[in-house]
Parts: sequence; structure tokens; C-alpha cells
Amino acid sequence: MHWTQRAALCALPILFWTGGMTAQTATLPQPKTIPASEQTTEQDWWQNAVIYEIYPRSFQDSNNDGIGDLNGITSRLDYLQELGVDAIWLTPIYPSPQVDFGYDISDYRAIDPQYGTMADFERLVREAKKRNIRILMDMVMNHTSDQHEWFLQSRSSRTNPYRNWYVWRDGKGETTTGEGAPPNNWQSLFGHSAWQWDEKTRQYYYHKFYVQQPDLNWHNPAVHTAFRDIIRFWLDKGVGGFRFDAITTLYEDSELRDEGVVHDAHGNVVINAYGDPQLDGSRTDNLPELHTVVAEMRSVCDEFNSTHFPGTRIMIGETYLPNITELGKMYGSHNKPEFQLPMDTQIGFINKLDVEEFRLRINEAERQLHGHTPLLVFTNHDNPRLDLRYGDGVHNTEIARVISTILFATRGASLFYYGDEIGMKTTPPMRKEDVKDPIGITGWPKEKGRDGERTPMQWNATANAGFSDGKPWLPVPPTYTQVNVADEERNPNSLLNWYKALIALKKTNSAFAHGNNVMLDTANTKVLSWLRQTPSGRQVVISANFTPEPQTVNLTHGATLHSTHATTLLKSPGGLNPSTLDVVHLAPFGVYIGEVK
Ligand code: GLC
Repeated sequence: MHWTQRAALCALPILFWTGGMTAQTATLPQPKTIPASEQTTEQDWWQNAVIYEIYPRSFQDSNNDGIGDLNGITSRLDYLQELGVDAIWLTPIYPSPQVDFGYDISDYRAIDPQYGTMADFERLVREAKKRNIRILMDMVMNHTSDQHEWFLQSRSSRTNPYRNWYVWRDGKGETTTGEGAPPNNWQSLFGHSAWQWDEKTRQYYYHKFYVQQPDLNWHNPAVHTAFRDIIRFWLDKGVGGFRFDAITTLYEDSELRDEGVVHDAHGNVVINAYGDPQLDGSRTDNLPELHTVVAEMRSVCDEFNSTHFPGTRIMIGETYLPNITELGKMYGSHNKPEFQLPMDTQIGFINKLDVEEFRLRINEAERQLHGHTPLLVFTNHDNPRLDLRYGDGVHNTEIARVISTILFATRGASLFYYGDEIGMKTTPPMRKEDVKDPIGITGWPKEKGRDGERTPMQWNATANAGFSDGKPWLPVPPTYTQVNVADEERNPNSLLNWYKALIALKKTNSAFAHGNNVMLDTANTKVLSWLRQTPSGRQVVISANFTPEPQTVNLTHGATLHSTHATTLLKSPGGLNPSTLDVVHLAPFGVYIGEVK
């Protein structure tokens, strides 16, 4: 699912669950000696990395202006270290008019004063390093802000040296008095035509996102040089790498051919949340030219690799793609590597608890990515949180345990979004006049925008959830009195402690960290079970019940286990220790993880 198709999900009913389960403390992993060949180094740290996405506006405010900032993040590094995070991806913190809350950048080499200073940033990098945490920047190369100096120059005249840095075209049927029609039918992902008429120089410019986000022209070599230098600038500051924003929309068809209109099964045109016909993206999304740019940026990042912290500098891709074959291409080839970690949205955005679908997609990631590392991800600042996409309103916490088990116990790197670890729920605005994200205004009420997943982090039960002493830029959800870090730290059965236990397993158990995935009990449509196995023969079994009924499974189906006995590593509260792996009882949405003896 592309995140722009997110609106329909918001319509799901939300219920509160007030029932209780018999509590049982999670068993913490016992560290074991890991063979040298299976240990993580500074070069391959990313292969089983735990990456945490922070939306800086909403994480922690340190100066009480109601907006989160860099010093706020620095003050929470101990929390992130304790959680077991290896890297933090910060959504954009560069100077910006904040139309798209930072994704409209007006200067790529500075820090927006709302978030702090360059000195604050450097301190964050230093303090994070002390805790073995890398900082990853968001790199937006598809477009800039319309207030960026490049665009101000570009729009000033047709002969300006920056004219060709953006995508300018004549209108169709333009006259000396009228603008004519836009050059073709392309649409902005944020609604309506992707072409904006600019009266001064009497041409249209292209914007895949907001009008204030003109697309850069990647056919111009000067644009390439500029971004190679920007990337070097941040790598010099010691960042661990980048998340590349909107990478699939870097190029458009040079012939400007119209895109196809999508029809439903009855032959009717599909209308999107903005009231426009849905287009197929064939001329503006995932064009092959983008691979050259990714490989080019990768070679810049590789210049900075080292054997000591931050080690390999990584490239994460925002890669919503139609299938595993397209995802496979994002890794590039041996001679021309591209992303180390393009996001695998095939798994995380299934958006329903369907055992067969998960089995299929996890197997695809295991077998069809040519041994590359999948990056699992279920949540981010553009999509409703887990409660709306996987929850049933009754067992949301148990379901979050199931999802997080898939996230951390499947081979690969794991990326999650601030607040997931405590079970923060999506809290969209109730009234149009409260909406901050402009797409929520254009698309109201079908598309309420992304405010619901960007609410302030819930640290404790004091006023404003400990986020700020000022007025938060988005309201703190009323759930903060029950759902917050401080309370969950005290409760051994909390979701937060479940996340910590899973992450600790990923760090200390080599089967969890690097073992292959082998599906078990593959005819089962109610429980997803799998084995992680290292070359040295360490075996861990994992079983997750996708139903609200208790289930019993036989984990000896599907692979040769060393024995039918296991030591429990982790299980849901209320779960039983199986005496044999032939008969494992699982509570509703229960999870069992055991090391085969
Ligand atoms: C990406 C970002 C999103 C932003 C868009 C335009 O999809 O994740 O938040 O609005 O790019 O930059």
C-alpha cells in the first residue's frame, strides 16, 4: 500500500479493551558465547540493526515552545540506549518553511532554529555515539522548498543558470494572454494537478508533492553534484547514514506522456480521497533512471566507511514498491551497489493479520532478495499507527506483541516509529479546523492528514505527558494517562518491556541476530511459526497466534529440530512453558519463543 492510500484505514472502528490477562513476567535472554563469525562488527552493524524513527517536532520539547527539538532528543538518549536502539532516523531538521513539516527544505546544510543549532546537532551526534547510537539524516532529493535559493533563482527568469534545476514546461495551447492547460494529466500525491503555473516566467513547474515543493530536475548533472556535496557535508559530521525520501519519484517521463487512469473491477474510474481520478503512476514513479542516482550516492557514502564507529554508513530507501522483484532491484548489483536497506513494505503494509500472506511475504524476502538484508517496517509518520491497521480494538496490545515479534524475530534489520513501543494509538483531529497537515484540509473528511500519527510522545502521566511545559503543537492524546513510558517501565508485563526483551534477544542471541528464517507448520492458517537457525546450528523457534482464540501448534512440522525440547526465551503474559515442541499452547494472540535444546 502506498501511504497515500491510507485514508480508508482511518474509517475502522476503535474500541477500548478493559479486560485483563493473567500476568506473567517475560523470561529475559541468557547471553551465550557467539562464534566470532556470527558476531556483529562495525562493518555489518546494520544487518541486524534496530532503527528508531523520531519525528523531532513530537518527541521531546526542551525549551517549552510546544515543539520538540534536538536538545530534547539528546535528553532522551539514555531511554533509547536502554531500549536497545542502534540508530535513530530523524525526519528533516533542516531550515524549512514547514509546509510539509520539514520535507520542504530551504537549506540543506543547516538546522532549523525551531529544532536548535548546529552545535546542538553536533552534541546530539557526540552523545549518541557515547551510547553506541548512530544518527541518520533524512535526505530529500526529489524536491526542495519553493523558498530554497535554487528555486528562487530558477523562477526569476528563463535564462537564470538555475532554471534547469527544476522541471519547467510550457502549458498546452498557451497563448500570450492565457496559461493554457497543464502539460499533461500528472497529479500531485497530495491532490490535484502536479503542475503549477508561474506567472512571472509564464511556464508551469512540476511538483509531485505540495505546490511549495517543486521537483528537482535530475537530468541536470549540476543537481547530482550538489547532492553529492550535501551528503559529504553530513557524513563529515559523523552521521551514520541517510534515509532517502521519495526516492522512487526522482524521475518523470521526459516525453511527458499522460499516466493511465485506474479502473475498478466494474470498469468505473477509481476516484481518490481528493476527488481526482486515480492514476497508475507509470510515468512518474519508479522509473529505471533512479538507480543510477542511488548507486552514485552509495559510492559517496562508501568513501566514508570505516572499521570503527560509525562503521559502514548506510542508505535506507523509502521504497513503496509493487512487488519483491522491484524491491530486489533497490539493492543494486555487486559492482554497483545501491541501498543496503530499502524498506520492505511488502511485509509491514499487508495491513491485516493474515498468516498465509505473512508467510508468503517473509519467504519472499528470505529467498528472492539474493541474500540481501530485508528492512522490516510497519509504521512511520505517514501512516496510521498499528492500532488502526492491525488492531481489533479489543486485543490491541496482544496484537502489537505479535507484530513486534515479526519485526524483531525475522531475519533482517528492524525499523519502528517512536511511541510504538508503548502502544501509542492513532489520534486524528476531530475537526477540520484543527488539522495541521495540509493534505488533511484538502482531503477532509476522507483524508484527515497525518496528524493522528504525529502526536507528542507520551512520557508520563503528568500534564502534556511530559512532552512540553508549553502548548504542544498537536494535542496530546487523552490516552496518555494510561499509555506512557513511566508507567510501562514499572510494569513487567507492559508492551515496552516486551519490546526491550525482543530487542535484547536480537542483540544477544545469534540465531535471532543472524539465523536464517525457515517456516514451520506451514499448513496452519491461524498461527505463524518459524525457526531461526545459524550456520553453527543454533536454533530458536517462534510461534505467534493470529487469532483471538487459544491455539495449539506442533512446531516439529517443517524442519529438523535438534530436539523436541526448548528453553523458553520469551512468551506472552499468561502463556505456558511447553513440555515438548509437539504441543505448544498459545493464548489469544499469544507468542512463544524458545531455544531448541
Ligand atoms: C515522504 C515523506 C512524507 C513527505 C513526502 C514529501 O513520503 O515521508 O512525509 O510528505 O515524502 O517529501
